[in-house]
Amino acid sequence: MRKKIIAGNWKMNMTYEEGQILTSEIVQMAQDEQLKDVSLVLNPPFPHLHVVKKLIGGAPNVFVGAQNCSDKESGAYTGEVSAAILASFGVSYVIIGHSERREYFKENNEMLTEKVKQALAAGLQPIFCCGESLDIREAGTHEPNVKFQLTDSLFELSAEEISKVTIAYEPIWAIGTGKTASAEQAQEMHAAIRKHLASKYGKEVADSISILYGGSMKPSNAAELLAKPDVDGGLIGGASLKSRDFIDIAKSY
Ligand code: PGA
Repeated sequence: MRKKIIAGNWKMNMTYEEGQILTSEIVQMAQDEQLKDVSLVLNPPFPHLHVVKKLIGGAPNVFVGAQNCSDKESGAYTGEVSAAILASFGVSYVIIGHSERREYFKENNEMLTEKVKQALAAGLQPIFCCGESLDIREAGTHEPNVKFQLTDSLFELSAEEISKVTIAYEPIWAIGTGKTASAEQAQEMHAAIRKHLASKYGKEVADSISILYGGSMKPSNAAELLAKPDVDGGLIGGASLKSRDFIDIAKSY
């Protein structure tokens, strides 16, 4: 059985105060509304991690994740945060290779491999993002494009290592645009990703890897997307900043 994961990517939003309110509300609702078989992952900006972890306390199925980590192990890299530092704060997950990091901070496939390795070495579970731009989608080459991102960044991992990775398929044209991939488009790509993983690691490993969809997922479209057999959860941006919306997405399963 694959893990069902609803992860919130707060991006560069939320003050200290706002983050605490949001976290407390989510933890409370998850408990009151008995969200049992879905893991919730909150990915706030770095300074929130400690308090978010504390507020989650012993809540079952609620975890804290970071939005990025360094590709280096430790040392003189001013402004960077290593995977080991994150792990020492009780962080469980880390988003790696979000399209905003690829575009604005010039993160390339090679660097992302290093980040994934650092995360795994520190005991974190990477949420590895992939996805095509609008011109690639319109040219019809989205499938080979996404497969290449996976091959180039992940395929030097062992089967044991890749089993600890969660994939997030996020078509860039759907992120923050209000435009969602249709459930059919998402399923088609998720199935292609799983087949690609199987071609390298075998069916059993590929079947055990959770593949999340991201890009304008909200309560009104979540049920349809999450009903697809290869969609194992969501990576939620905008709608993760409202506790009610975030929980309603998780309840759409
Ligand atoms: P969105 O962002 O839900 O606001 O489109 C998703 C993401 O970038 O992870």
